[in-house]
Amino acid sequence: MAVVRAMTRGDLDGVRRLEAATPEAPHWTPAVYERFLSEETPDKRIFIAADDSRTVGFAAAHIISDVCELESMAVDSAARRTGLGAALLAALKEWARQNGAIRVELEVRAGNTSAVAFYERAGFSTDGRRRNYYREPDEDAVLMSCPLQPNHAS
Ligand SMILES: CC(C)(COP(=O)(O)OP(=O)(O)OC[C@H]1O[C@@H](n2cnc3c(N)ncnc32)[C@H](O)[C@@H]1OP(=O)(O)O)[C@@H](O)C(=O)NCCC(=O)NCCS
Repeated sequence: MAVVRAMTRGDLDGVRRLEAATPEAPHWTPAVYERFLSEETPDKRIFIAADDSRTVGFAAAHIISDVCELESMAVDSAARRTGLGAALLAALKEWARQNGAIRVELEVRAGNTSAVAFYERAGFSTDGRRRNYYREPDEDAVLMSCPLQPNHAS
């Protein structure tokens, strides 16, 4: 049974392995991951799903003002359609809400129909397209967003 928690430095190899095996995910240097792990940038966070210490999913986000940008997300191909992506997004949304975000935004390749379907199911709607946003191959981005409930506790 996988658990969802914040990524630590000890998870870096597992996250990079999963990223490398996921062509749809952006490919980042260790320095980019370091910015998500540094205490100096609490507005950046990666959540991971770990199954017996194996990383089977992750989601990376950055809060800018009151918007949380979902920057990367992947679930191990053997573990898809078991609810891990939804659990990662739920953790990320809760963190974003508690840290003042009122909306989550993302861009996704127009041809990544699985991800678009996943995000729609998770409450995202399409706001528009950015033409030829992606390279290799050239492709439009679909812009999606999802409102967050305000945090009444704070
Ligand atoms: C997108 C992704 C993260 C979804 O993760 P997941 O763990 O499989 O998602 P879940 O199991 O939580 O799916 C929740 C719901 O989303 C929808 N969904 C998920 N994958 C889907 C697919 N391939 N086709 C249609 N609907 C899908 C379904 O409604 C699903 O519920 P169901 O399985 O009960 O029908 C995963 O497919 C992935 O890693 N893809 C490659 C990387 C990627 O494209 N990342 C996004 C761009 S960076």
